[in-house]
Amino acid sequence: MAQDREWAPQHGSPRDRRPRVIAIGGGKGGIGKTLISANLAAALARLGSRVVAIDTDLEGANLHTALGMSAPSTSLADYVADRERDLRRLLLDTPVPGLRLIAATHGNLDSAQPKSWSRVTMLQQIRELPADYAVVDLGAGTHPSVIDYFLVGDVGVLVMTPEPTSVENAYAFLRAAFYRRLRHAVTSDAVRDIVNQAMDQKNDRGIRTPLDLMNAVQQSSPEDGERFVAAMRSFRPQLVVNGVRTAQDIRLGFTVRSVCRKYFGLEADYLGYVNWDDAVSEAVRSRATIVESHPRSDAAIYVMRIARKLMGLSNRPARPRAASAPERPAL
Ligand SMILES: Nc1ncnc2c1ncn2[C@@H]1O[C@H](COP(=O)(O)OP(=O)(O)OP(=O)(O)O)[C@@H](O)[C@H]1O
Ligand SMILES: [Mg+2]
Repeated sequence: MAQDREWAPQHGSPRDRRPRVIAIGGGKGGIGKTLISANLAAALARLGSRVVAIDTDLEGANLHTALGMSAPSTSLADYVADRERDLRRLLLDTPVPGLRLIAATHGNLDSAQPKSWSRVTMLQQIRELPADYAVVDLGAGTHPSVIDYFLVGDVGVLVMTPEPTSVENAYAFLRAAFYRRLRHAVTSDAVRDIVNQAMDQKNDRGIRTPLDLMNAVQQSSPEDGERFVAAMRSFRPQLVVNGVRTAQDIRLGFTVRSVCRKYFGLEADYLGYVNWDDAVSEAVRSRATIVESHPRSDAAIYVMRIARKLMGLSNRPARPRAASAPERPAL
């Protein structure tokens, strides 16, 4: 059982015993954010880390189900409703040794997400959880509450599937996250005003991309221009393509990475991909993660690869099992 795991650090946490926060977003609904959050969290725990998975999707809460748990008695909704002010008291054991969960449940329909001031405290508390990794599952969309969870991540994972709709939403999500980050970075009111205007895609100033915005900011204030460039450099999303069926699907990650560089002036990394795999739905129905219940499935193997990469461990080449499985590029 999870509580049998020694919750003192197993091998020294990556940063001052604070968790490395991995936020899993993507803009579109139904693309596998929760599947990847649950399995990545379980994979990191299988590799010996102390992990907390956090479901921030108070409107579509189901991370607990993906982890094989029934409806939780306490959740982030208690924090939002002010019934509990300490996130650590919301930690639940999961069936996966080394993995604990802060669940979500469908909260107050009128105000599901925490107000922005309460969000700041909550994000701070996430950064102080007793774990090596905190894996944060985001809801769909680009609402500021979703984007703030993404920006709190030391690692921001952008999930997409090979459908054009998902790719379109991934770009929209990146743009929203990046502009929000910039708004926090700049100091002068005039420049913040420019960033606010740029958030309207059809703005009169003709700012269409982050690169256009950078030029406008540099012209208005050289100091904020420098801050802008620093914020741009430190914003490095990690791309994951989920539901891969062909070699062409795999290449999507490289294409998006090039587009980010060319049109957004942003560096992104292609963290990995996860095959479309029927074992996923079998696992969900049997109330387990694939990495625990189907560890030899393609999906589990590729999630484990991503987990190892995040932990800085080496990956031996994985052999796709299905005859139709695509070739694997060196990621
Ligand atoms: N690689 C995969 N292979 C097979 N099925 C998958 C795969 N990835 C996701 N699915 C299935 O797709 C469905 C949606 O996945 P999931 O709930 O993780 O998406 P989501 O992005 O979290 O959605 P939402 O935005 O609604 O929270 C689930 O039924 C899941 O089991
Ligand atoms: Mg989800």
